[in-house]
Amino acid sequence: MVKICCIGAGYVGGPTMAVIALKCPSIEVAVVDISVSRIRAWNSEKLPIYEPGLDDVVKKCRGKNLFFSNEVEKNVAQADIVFVSVNTPTKTSGLGAGKAADLTYWESAARMIADVSKSSKIVVEKSTVPVKTAEAIEKILTHNNKGIEFQILSNPEFLAEGTAIADLFDPDRVLIGGREETQGGLKAIKTLKDVYAHWVPQERIICTNLWSAELSKLAANAFLAQRISSVNSISALCEATGANVTQVSYSVGKDSRIGPKFLSASVGFGGSCFQKDILNLVYICECNGLPEVANYWKQVIKINDYQKKRFVNRLVSSMFNTVSGKKIAILGFSFKKDTGDTRETPAIDVCKGLLSDRAHLIIYDPQVAEAQMMMDLSLPKFDWDSQPGSPMQIPTDESVSQSVKVVHNAYEATKDAHAICILTEWDEFKNLDYKKIYDNMPKPAYVFDGRNVVDVGKLRQIGFIVYAIGKPLDPWLKDMPAVA
Ligand code: NAD
Ligand code: UDX
Repeated sequence: MVKICCIGAGYVGGPTMAVIALKCPSIEVAVVDISVSRIRAWNSEKLPIYEPGLDDVVKKCRGKNLFFSNEVEKNVAQADIVFVSVNTPTKTSGLGAGKAADLTYWESAARMIADVSKSSKIVVEKSTVPVKTAEAIEKILTHNNKGIEFQILSNPEFLAEGTAIADLFDPDRVLIGGREETQGGLKAIKTLKDVYAHWVPQERIICTNLWSAELSKLAANAFLAQRISSVNSISALCEATGANVTQVSYSVGKDSRIGPKFLSASVGFGGSCFQKDILNLVYICECNGLPEVANYWKQVIKINDYQKKRFVNRLVSSMFNTVSGKKIAILGFSFKKDTGDTRETPAIDVCKGLLSDRAHLIIYDPQVAEAQMMMDLSLPKFDWDSQPGSPMQIPTDESVSQSVKVVHNAYEATKDAHAICILTEWDEFKNLDYKKIYDNMPKPAYVFDGRNVVDVGKLRQIGFIVYAIGKPLDPWLKDMPAVA
C-alpha cells in the first residue's frame, strides 16, 4: 500500500487529501499539522473549515484510509510520498517585507523531513512557492540526509475556496513538475501521475519541468486577478459614463478568445492567494532585474486597492460626506460566498475605512465567527502599520468593540441602519424582503451593493437610493461630489 503524508491540514491540505483518500482506496493518507486545535476539529463532527461537500467526503474515508494527526514526524517517516501544504504568506518584516513569500514554515517542514527520513521519498510542493524553491528544498534535503534519495515534485493546487470539492473532483488540469531530465525524476512524476489517474483523465494531467510548474501557479493566479482588476477598472468608467458593467462584461466575454468567466465587477478581490501570489511575482521580477514586468503586475493590486477605496469614498460622499455616528449594516464579511475564510477579504479594508470615518457597523455573515471579525478589524496588516507616524489608521481593540456589533441575521443587522453595504455575494442576500428592511430604516435609506447581487430597479422602486458597482448612477448620487 502506498502511504501518503500531507504536512499542513489547512484549506488545501485537508480537502485535497480527503479527495485523494476517497478516490484511491488503496492508498493510506495521513494529514498532519502542528496545530492541535485544527487536528482535533478535523477529527470531530465540526470540521475546521466550511466547504460545501467536504463533510461527506471526510465522513466516507476518515478512520479507513484517511487520518488526521499531530504526530508529524512519525507519519512523515512512514510515508512514500510527502506533500507539503503549509502556509506561505507574504513576509511582514525584514528583507522583501510586503512582497516576498515567507518560507519559514516551508523550510522548517523540509528540515524536519530530512531529519526523520529513513527511506527514500517523493516530496511534493503543494504550497504555492516562488520559482526555484524546489532547488532550495533539494539542497536542504540532500545536505541534511546524505544516504536517502529525495525526488522533489511541484504539484501546485488550483482549487478555489467555496468550490474546492467540485474543483478537486473535476479539475481543469493537474500540473506535475519534476526533473524530467533524470530517470529518478521521471519515475517520481509517473508515481504521482498514477495517483491522480485514479479519477483525472490522462489528458488533463500535465507534466512539465519544475520551474514551469512553480511559475505556472503564480502566473495563473496573476492572470485571474488581472481579469478582475480589468473589469473593476472598467466599472469606474461605467459609472462615469452611464454604461452598465454587467452588459459590458457580457458583451466582452462573448468573444470566445476572452470567455465569460471571472469578469464580475466587485468591491475588489480578496482571499489568501491573489494578492500574496502577485506580490510574490512582483518580487521575483524585481530580483531578476525586470522592473517593467514587476510594475505591470503591481497595477493589478493598485487597481484592487483603488476599487475598495472608491467604494468607501462613494458611500461616505453619498451620505452627505459623513458617516460619523451613522449605523451601517454590513452584509457579508468572508472574501466570497460559501466560505468562512476572511483572509484579505475586501470587507476588512471597507470596514476599516468606514470606522476611520467614525461609523457604527452592524455586521452579519452566515459563516464568519464574531471573534474572527473583531480580530481582523483590530490587527494591522503589516508590522509598520502599527508604528507611530504610519498613514494607516488602525482602529484599536477598544474602538472596534465600541463601534462594531456582530448579529445573527440580515434583518437584525439592517434594523435602524442608515445604509446597507453588501460585501459578499451570499445567495441569501438576493432574496431578502427588502420592503420590510426599507420600512425599518431611517430615510433616506441607502444600499451600496459591492457584489451586484440586488435587483437595482426593484430596490429603487421600493424607495432605496441604490449604488451598485459599475451600474448607472442613482439620480441622487449624480449630484454628489465626484469620488476619486
Ligand atoms: P492554511 O493556513 O489553511 O494551512 C496551512 C497549515 O499548515 C496550518 O494549519 C499550519 O498549522 C500548518 N503548518 C505550518 N507549518 C507546519 C509545519 N512545519 N508542520 C506541520 N504543519 C504546519 O493554508 P492554506 O490556505 O491551506 O494554503 C496552503 C498553501 O496552499 C499556501 O501556499 C497557499 O498559497 C496554497 N494554496 C491555497 C489555496 C486556497 O484556496 N487557500 C489554493 C491553492 C493554493
Ligand atoms: C483563487 C484561484 O481561483 C484558485 O485557482 C487558486 O487555487 C486560489 O486562488 P480563491 O481565492 O479561493 O481561488 O477564490 P476565487 O474564486 O478565485 O475568488 C477570489 C476573489 O476574487 C474573491 O474575493 C471573489 O469574490 C473575487 N472575484 C472572483 C471577483 O471579484 N470577480 C470575479 O469575477 C471572480
